Amino acid sequence: MLDRRKFLQCAASLAAAPPCASSAPEQPLRAHAAAAGILYGAAAAYGPLQNDASYAAHFAEECGILVPENVLKWGPVHPEPERYNFEPADFLADFARKNQIQMRGHTLVWHNQLAPWVATAVTKQNARRHLESHIRAVVGHFKGRMHSWDVVNEAVSPGDLRNDGLRKTPWLEHFGPEYLDSAYHTASETDPGALLVYNDYGLDYDEPGQEAKRAAVLNLLRDLKKRSVPLHAFGMQAHLSARQQKNFRPETLRRFLGEIAGLGLKILITELDVADQSLPEDAAERDRGVAEVYESYLTAALSNQALIAVLTWGLTDKYTWLANQNKRADGTPVRVLPFDRDFQRKPAWHAMAKAFDARAAK
Ligand code: XIL
Repeated sequence: MLDRRKFLQCAASLAAAPPCASSAPEQPLRAHAAAAGILYGAAAAYGPLQNDASYAAHFAEECGILVPENVLKWGPVHPEPERYNFEPADFLADFARKNQIQMRGHTLVWHNQLAPWVATAVTKQNARRHLESHIRAVVGHFKGRMHSWDVVNEAVSPGDLRNDGLRKTPWLEHFGPEYLDSAYHTASETDPGALLVYNDYGLDYDEPGQEAKRAAVLNLLRDLKKRSVPLHAFGMQAHLSARQQKNFRPETLRRFLGEIAGLGLKILITELDVADQSLPEDAAERDRGVAEVYESYLTAALSNQALIAVLTWGLTDKYTWLANQNKRADGTPVRVLPFDRDFQRKPAWHAMAKAFDARAAK
């Protein structure tokens, strides 16, 4: 493995002289990203990071930023009204600090993975108090240590048929649409240094449903900015699939990200992965198809200078939510991330490095 000090020197020199980037295949993705002026990282699975030394070593080598895949969601971190469990996230924060990896927080306000007690305890009378004290506790715990926070996740759903495009969630029902303003203000008061992000999915393809969602997300972001809500960045989840590649138009993605940047927001790709169910069983063929999706998407997204970070939702096919979420009909394990199950770099890894290098060379 590359010595960390040598690697950092090398990354710095790559940043100064970008053309070297493509001629150094042994460099980790974080160095390719650094040369392009961005961060590369991944969602970290807590159990494996503790127990699988090879996973931890590759994570430390490849990633410049880490986001906990699950342990900062409401359910895991706030399992009872008066009890918070920061132990797993503290472990990840410690791992990140020791390996000079930045950390981002995911997520403070979401309708999924809530603690069961929320459904009975939260009412119209106390929703504001519950939401704000949760945010103060969680953001406060990591004050000064977070690169960014996904303050609100997935608040938009045009299919829910409200005029404002907001998703019908417990927070909307009990608190009203102002829950968003309150969440960002509270996060900003608690940790003024963290970049505050709105994060969402289903915005990548030229499909009518996704076009409607892009419009609704832009409306929401515009409204928040108009009201001077402390919102600093947009997180594009980018859960992609080979099946939808036929509906991918680079200009659609470029236009959408351009409009977001036009609002003065930074952009992060927060949860990139590529479902492979529609591709043939043959591993080489499948890897080519998946890599093509990574490369075309990143090439379009990276042309936007407001883009500051790319995170994949996991690092290796050994640990990916798509193994359950998007199982293949032929029963073979999914091949959806930059590394295979044996921590070998796949064509998807090279596709990402190539897209980073192309931005660095500009
Ligand atoms: C997923 C995790 O990867 C799974 O382990 C968990 O069971 C469910 O949530 N959008 C998000 C992420 O914002 O938090 C989700 O993570 C994937 C979709």
